[in-house]
Amino acid sequence: MSQLRVGVIGTGMMGCEHLRNLIGIPEVTITAISDIHEQQREWAKHTLKDSVSPIATFADHQDLLNSGLIDAVLVATPNFTHKALLDDIFETDIPVMVEKPMCTTVADCISIVHAQEKRSAITWVGLEYRYMAPVAGLLRQLHSGAVGNLKMMSIREHRFPFLVKVDNWNRFSQNTGGTLVEKCCHFFDLMNLAVGSRPVRVLASGGQDVNHLDEIYDAGPSDILDNAYVITEYANGVRTMLDLSMFAEGGQHEQEITVVGDTGKIEAFIPGNGKIFLGQRASRSVHEIEVPVDPDVTHMGFHFGASYIECKRFVDAVLSNKAPEVTVADGLWSVVIGAAAHKSIDERRPVLISEYDL
Ligand SMILES: NC(=O)c1ccc[n+]([C@@H]2O[C@H](COP(=O)([O-])OP(=O)(O)OC[C@H]3O[C@@H](n4cnc5c(N)ncnc54)[C@H](O)[C@@H]3O)[C@@H](O)[C@H]2O)c1
Repeated sequence: MSQLRVGVIGTGMMGCEHLRNLIGIPEVTITAISDIHEQQREWAKHTLKDSVSPIATFADHQDLLNSGLIDAVLVATPNFTHKALLDDIFETDIPVMVEKPMCTTVADCISIVHAQEKRSAITWVGLEYRYMAPVAGLLRQLHSGAVGNLKMMSIREHRFPFLVKVDNWNRFSQNTGGTLVEKCCHFFDLMNLAVGSRPVRVLASGGQDVNHLDEIYDAGPSDILDNAYVITEYANGVRTMLDLSMFAEGGQHEQEITVVGDTGKIEAFIPGNGKIFLGQRASRSVHEIEVPVDPDVTHMGFHFGASYIECKRFVDAVLSNKAPEVTVADGLWSVVIGAAAHKSIDERRPVLISEYDL
C-alpha cells in the first residue's frame, strides 16, 4: 500500500487541525469524516474546501467504521468519548491515532492497553509535544549525555484559560479527566520520556481559583482546576515538577522546560525562537543550539508543526507496518501521573503509584 485512505472522527478544533495536516501529506486521501453535530460536519467540509474530492460524512462513527472507505482513522472527540470509540474501533482491524488523553481514567487506560495486546493494527496516542522542535532538541541533547545524568526536570506552563469547546464539554472534570489529565498528560509524557523510568510517588497542590468561577451550566457549575504544582518522584531517583497556571497569558513563553543533570542544564522555551540553551557547570558557560522546525512540515497549525509531524509519522507507520512511536503504554503512563496528582490534591497527601492496579 502506498496510499492511505483516512477518516476523522470528531471535527472540532483538533479534528480540523488534523484535516489540514492530512491535506499536506501526499500519501493520504481523506475519504470520510464523522461528527455528531451537523454544524461540525459542515465545518469539516469548509476546512477541506477544494483540497479533496467530495468526502463521505456520517453522524454516527459506526457508519464510518463500517463504510469500507477508510484504511486508518483519527479520533479527535472529547476525552470522555475516547474509551467507547476505541472499544468500537478495536472491533475492526483499522489502525487508529487517538487524541490525548487516551482515556479519562487509569482503569479505562489499562483496559485499552490490554485490548491492544490482542490486536495487530496499531494504536497511536496523540501526545504531540514530543515533536515540537525545542522539545525534540532538548530530548536529543539530554539523551546524548550533554548534561550527564539527569537529576531534575521542571515544566512551567503559564497560559490562557481553557477555550470554549463544542457543548462546553471541557468545563467539567468528569468529561476531561481533570485538568492534570486533560492537558498536562502532554507534560507528564515528556517527563516520562526524559526520565526513562516509571513514576513512583506524586505530591500535588492545586485548585480552581480564578477561571470559570461564575460559569453555571445545566450540569452545574464548572469544576475545572486552573493552577497546580505537581512533584513526581521516579524509580531511578529523578524528580520532576510541573508548575501550571491557566490565568497567566501575559508571560514571555507559554511553556518553559528545564532539565538539570549532574554536569549541566538545558533550557527550552515554547514557542521559543528556534533555539535551546545548554549550560555547563564546569565552564559556567551557556551556549545556544539551533532547533529549527522540520522544513517538511507543510502545516504549522496551533501546535507549531508538531501535530503535522505526528500525523505524518502515524501515516508512515501504517504504510510501512511499523510500530507506533507513541504507544498505548505511553498514553496510560501520562494519565497515571495526572490522575495521581488529582488524587493527591483531593486527599491532601502524597499518592503512591503502587496504589493503582498497574
Ligand atoms: N494535541 C493537542 O495538543 C490537543 C489540542 C486540543 C485538543 N486536543 C484533544 O482533541 C480532542 C478534541 O478536542 P477539541 O478541542 O477538538 O474539542 P471540540 O469540542 O472543538 O471538538 C470535538 C468534536 O467532537 C465531536 N463529537 C463529540 N462526540 C462525538 C462522537 N461520539 N462522534 C463523533 N464526533 C463527536 C463534537 O461535535 C465536536 O465537533 C480532545 O480529546 C482534546 O483533548 C488535543
